[in-house]
Amino acid sequence: MQLRVLVLAGDGIGPEVTREAVRVLQRVAERFRHELVLQEGLIGGEAIRRTGSPLPEATLQAALTADATLLGAVGLPEFDNAPPDQRPEKGLLGIRKALGVFANLRPVRAYPRLLDASPLKNDRVQGTDLVIVRELTGGLYYGTPRGIFGSGPEERAVNSMVYTRAEIERIAHVAFRLARNRRRKLASVDKSNVLEVSQLWRRVVSEVATQYPDVELEHILVDNCAMQLVLNPRRFDVVLTENMFGDILSDEAAVLAGSIGMLPSASLGGQRPSGAWVGLYEPVHGSAPDIAGQNRANPLGAVGSVAAMLEYSFGLKEEAAAVNRAIETVLEKGVVTADLRPAGKPATTSEVGDALIAEI
Ligand code: IPM
Ligand code: MG
Repeated sequence: MQLRVLVLAGDGIGPEVTREAVRVLQRVAERFRHELVLQEGLIGGEAIRRTGSPLPEATLQAALTADATLLGAVGLPEFDNAPPDQRPEKGLLGIRKALGVFANLRPVRAYPRLLDASPLKNDRVQGTDLVIVRELTGGLYYGTPRGIFGSGPEERAVNSMVYTRAEIERIAHVAFRLARNRRRKLASVDKSNVLEVSQLWRRVVSEVATQYPDVELEHILVDNCAMQLVLNPRRFDVVLTENMFGDILSDEAAVLAGSIGMLPSASLGGQRPSGAWVGLYEPVHGSAPDIAGQNRANPLGAVGSVAAMLEYSFGLKEEAAAVNRAIETVLEKGVVTADLRPAGKPATTSEVGDALIAEI
């Protein structure tokens, strides 16, 4: 099979974790005899520096024509005070919107070997296996009106949380279908005791639920969900939530996995006639400029995102399983970066990559 993949390494640790993810992809292509066609593009702070735009037109066109896109991370401190349109994050939000990848799947697992990497007690974390389904192209991140208006004491800032019924329905279907292939439990997260958006969200999710009688649905308020995630994470299977809540809850859930460096994600849009998903694959972590360029970052979130790409955009389940197995084996062998607090000397980013490649 031909795999045409666009690689957007981005900022900070993006390039180093992406490098290992691409090496893993190359190894998979070699081992399973696929033809890998790689293209590179600019996004985020690096793109602003070189072209003046966080999402250059060439990148956008390349993403729209590639089979799948692998993204590292965006964000650099030098742009902290830049206007919203001139921030690296705008590139990421722009590409998500342009690709229409409304469903962001963020699996969170507590690997047995990593229990001690979490600051939470082992018996709490043990057995955690959940997926956050984060709505990715609506809500507060994109709603209008938005902006900062006026000046002096009357200066005001506005963001709008907006969801249509259609947007809620399509993400709910993704979550229910996913739950069907797992433990058949779905927790829909909202703030319906305060927000109208959440009231519509809850109503629409309940309606969609009637088409999935085999899935057990619970509604949970976001503040309670935040607490339950650390009190009793095993109670969760699929967690469905809107954009901003999902952003926050997924960083919290990363504590269960031992490090945010562990978490992969798949951002999916529509399904093509072949069944392949339009997809953007990105680790959950940010650009971590403080450790960038030091070969210390954990590449497993990026590598796990490659596994997700193989599965969702190429339908290559065996290949995806080979990558996930390699991740497990490498963890078992203790070849892990500093964020996972290994007993001995931490491995470098590229050493983890070497170990993965040796396993595939
Ligand atoms: C994430 C990140 C992004 C988001 C930032 C970098 C814009 O935090 O993917 O979780 O908020 O979506
Ligand atoms: Mg985030």
